[in-house]
Amino acid sequence: MSNLVIVGAQWGDEGKGKVVDILTQKADLVVRFQGGNNAGHTLVVDGQKYALHLVPSGILHPGKIGVVAGGVVIDPEVLLEEIDTLTARGLKVTPEVLLISEKAHVIMPYHRALDQAREGLKGEGRIGTTGRGIGPAYEDKASRIGLRMCDLRDLDSFREKAEAAMAEKMHLLTHFYKADTPNIDQIMAAAAVWQERLVPYLTDTRMFVQKALDEDRRILFEGAQGIQLDIDHGSYPFVTSSNPVAGSVTTGVGLAPQKIQGVLALVKAYSTRVGSGPFPTELSDATGDFMRKQGAEFGTTTGRPRRCGWLDAVVVKTAVDLCGVDHLAVTKLDVLSGLGELKIATHYMLDGEKIDFIPAEVKDAERCQPVYETWPGFFSDISKARKLEDLPDTARRYLDRMSELCGAPLGLVSVGPDREQTIMLHEYF
Ligand code: GDP
Ligand code: IMO
Ligand code: MG
Repeated sequence: MSNLVIVGAQWGDEGKGKVVDILTQKADLVVRFQGGNNAGHTLVVDGQKYALHLVPSGILHPGKIGVVAGGVVIDPEVLLEEIDTLTARGLKVTPEVLLISEKAHVIMPYHRALDQAREGLKGEGRIGTTGRGIGPAYEDKASRIGLRMCDLRDLDSFREKAEAAMAEKMHLLTHFYKADTPNIDQIMAAAAVWQERLVPYLTDTRMFVQKALDEDRRILFEGAQGIQLDIDHGSYPFVTSSNPVAGSVTTGVGLAPQKIQGVLALVKAYSTRVGSGPFPTELSDATGDFMRKQGAEFGTTTGRPRRCGWLDAVVVKTAVDLCGVDHLAVTKLDVLSGLGELKIATHYMLDGEKIDFIPAEVKDAERCQPVYETWPGFFSDISKARKLEDLPDTARRYLDRMSELCGAPLGLVSVGPDREQTIMLHEYF
């Protein structure tokens, strides 16, 4: 295998960053293919924490190449801040090791303003977006009025395009949302900095990745968000505005489907969700609080407390089917230590019927009653386990059952945030 797609099987925050970081040791390239800086991928190396939003998680390894492909939406301010922070921590984040697609769309200040104004007005019905302008940026892309990174090469035409794209939005922001509006002169002052600092990173990333594929170099495709947040397959409208499914690599990077050689799905040993929307196994009780506390379940991007609940095999099996998952990477198993019983939802009951999918309509999805299997828990500290045999029998039985119900074998098990706290069960690359 010379390439592997990493996806989140649930609602995001499964630990993709940690696993990408580990697998990068043997890879040559790490490529982000969708989403934007709504993503927050946390890596812990020797006790040091790094939070990445746009820069691929492989960047911590010297000599590896990070690629931000065309399917990603980029907030230049956030990207520059990230480059500066990483550089200040001694990492090399130069155009030699970070390549940015010239075709990636730019998240403009008016996208952020619109995202926040809309969410503010919706009140209770809000999606609970990250407020980073993701939805409005993808809207402009689909409406064909977006600005792309390559537009930064010519600031006169950048200004013209920005003014055209802004006209309608300024009206909306001022008169409908009664919100503050960004000013074109301020935007252009910022764009001059973006031009100077980011144009050197721009390239045709599709061609670069194609060449790497042709040369059989080892590539990791780093997904963001999770399958339940997919705009087509998630709990619409409580989703993000891109496709976190594995197939999205083909459009987000620009490669043929046959080129994808493996898919690894990240599965948190329980469930979490940030933002609104259906969550059948959510626990609004002491067990949910236990998971939040033990798992430090607070958003990497927004700091919001994550909603917590039992593992949902219906959700993970959906991801396995949708993405052609070869292996599961189970994370945060250590967090469950201390719970006497562990539950896994195997299916739901809706109007007296047994179903094994999440219904399309939110009002139905919210009425689904999960049906659980209960397994004995474990109490010991498993964070030092480095092979399956180091785990208590009950933890191993829980993992085996998870794998059986979700329809894919285990590829690795993570028992703590650090690189070392990992049980590898399969050789990738
Ligand atoms: P991502 O968005 O999928 O990359 O996940 P996040 O980084 O947003 O959230 C996962 C969090 O769990 C991070 O703070 C990680 O450092 C942490 N983490 C990852 N794996 C483990 C694990 O096995 N055990 C524990 N306790 N924490 C983990
Ligand atoms: P990573 O890559 C968890 C959620 C938001 C909200 C919905 C839409 O770290 O797993 P958006 O800002 O995308 O328009 O918000 O999607 N969301 C995430 N939840 N992890 C993420 O990324 C997320 N990115 C977006 O909370 O419910
Ligand atoms: Mg995250």
